[in-house]
Amino acid sequence: MPASKRSLFLTGIGTLVTCDPERGSGPLGEVHDAAVLCEGDRVVFAGPQSEAPRTFSEEPLTLDLDGHIVTPGLIDCHTHIVYAGDRLDDYEARLRGESYTTISGAGGGILSTVRATRAASDEVLVNLAERRAERLAAHGVTTIEVKSGYGLDVDQELRLLEVIKRTDRRTIADLVPTFLGAHSLPVEARRSEAGRRAYIDSVVHEMLPQVVERKLARFCDVFIDDGAFRLDEGRRVLEAAKDLGLSLKVHAEQITHTGASALAAELGAVSAEHLEKATDHDLRALATAGTVAVLLPGAALFLRDWHPRAERFRDAGVVMAVATDFNPGTSPTAHLPLMAQIAVLHSGLTLEEGLLAITRHAAQALGLQAERGSIRAGMKADLALFRCKDPRELLYEIGANPCAGIVKSGRYHRVEAARTARIRPGS
Ligand code: NIG
Ligand code: FE
Repeated sequence: MPASKRSLFLTGIGTLVTCDPERGSGPLGEVHDAAVLCEGDRVVFAGPQSEAPRTFSEEPLTLDLDGHIVTPGLIDCHTHIVYAGDRLDDYEARLRGESYTTISGAGGGILSTVRATRAASDEVLVNLAERRAERLAAHGVTTIEVKSGYGLDVDQELRLLEVIKRTDRRTIADLVPTFLGAHSLPVEARRSEAGRRAYIDSVVHEMLPQVVERKLARFCDVFIDDGAFRLDEGRRVLEAAKDLGLSLKVHAEQITHTGASALAAELGAVSAEHLEKATDHDLRALATAGTVAVLLPGAALFLRDWHPRAERFRDAGVVMAVATDFNPGTSPTAHLPLMAQIAVLHSGLTLEEGLLAITRHAAQALGLQAERGSIRAGMKADLALFRCKDPRELLYEIGANPCAGIVKSGRYHRVEAARTARIRPGS
């Protein structure tokens, strides 16, 4: 099909939120009374409607937005959506006062999700992940980072990365895979120092080379924390991954301060996530290294932890992104805009910072800022359409979902929240 047949013309946009201050007014680069023309999978025009092309080689599909808002497709830069089972028992235990670390140490936590995930077939895992990706897309999300990490042995971790690949073929949103073999120590590795070492050896010598050879992941992540991996263990995995050409991400300073964010900065990681316990010194190191700080307010809320203060990140000059951390144990949510709203309310991001955190800065946390996360000619045609007139409304009504549709790679999709709630046989 010639590219012109696929062109899409969005007109009557009340406010185009380009997320590029060079393209419009204010920190969000807003353009009023705007239009966007997409050809193939690219934006070819984005700006005032009065300046939009008037003649076309072939008539494009035209959608009149009736004064509503268009933003870049939202980007969820940190999720764990490939898993089976739930963590309702852990949740109830935590509500009774038990800590996340105590529950994990007793074989609950990540390990209980590992048991349920290992027992599920590929098809079940693909279906579960697909539905979670659809729920994210219903909020305007067009790119989703997805981690492995509930397999914890060579075959299972590779299987989960294959599941991500298969799910990606079915979802509207693009899935960006991350290898997280060092998410938690499997039971058999917990009994001795030698067992720990043997597991890290298998991550470094067996899993990573196959992940790279089979091109199953773009990033390698490690959970460095109390009850997970020590700093020296994390360093081994991250250095090996870097040597093999993977980009790095680190779950850092969530439950305790370990020095993981300084390690992320030292190794030039693309992002460091959580950071509830990061020091100002850590934040300055991240800023100097150009490592993006990914805040995960869902996990802080659900674990009843504190929310890191935005002014510390701002003062240090660190770029702030926000993600759902969608996982069954610490952040069971698909509502990315709500996460940005919690970051605004509890961490003190401005509304503009909250919106940039799930667009432009989330793209930066995935190294995709050259073609995603903001709107201008030449960028990928990934957009979100919202039924509201003022961008501040996107982070205003608690729990609302004003998303009316998304444009993914130049194609329009209706993604009403109601659609994802339909009852399907066997679900
Ligand atoms: O990002 N922190 C480590 N990983 C997840 C938790 C996963 C789980 O508890 O299942 C997180 O919060
Ligand atoms: Fe996480």
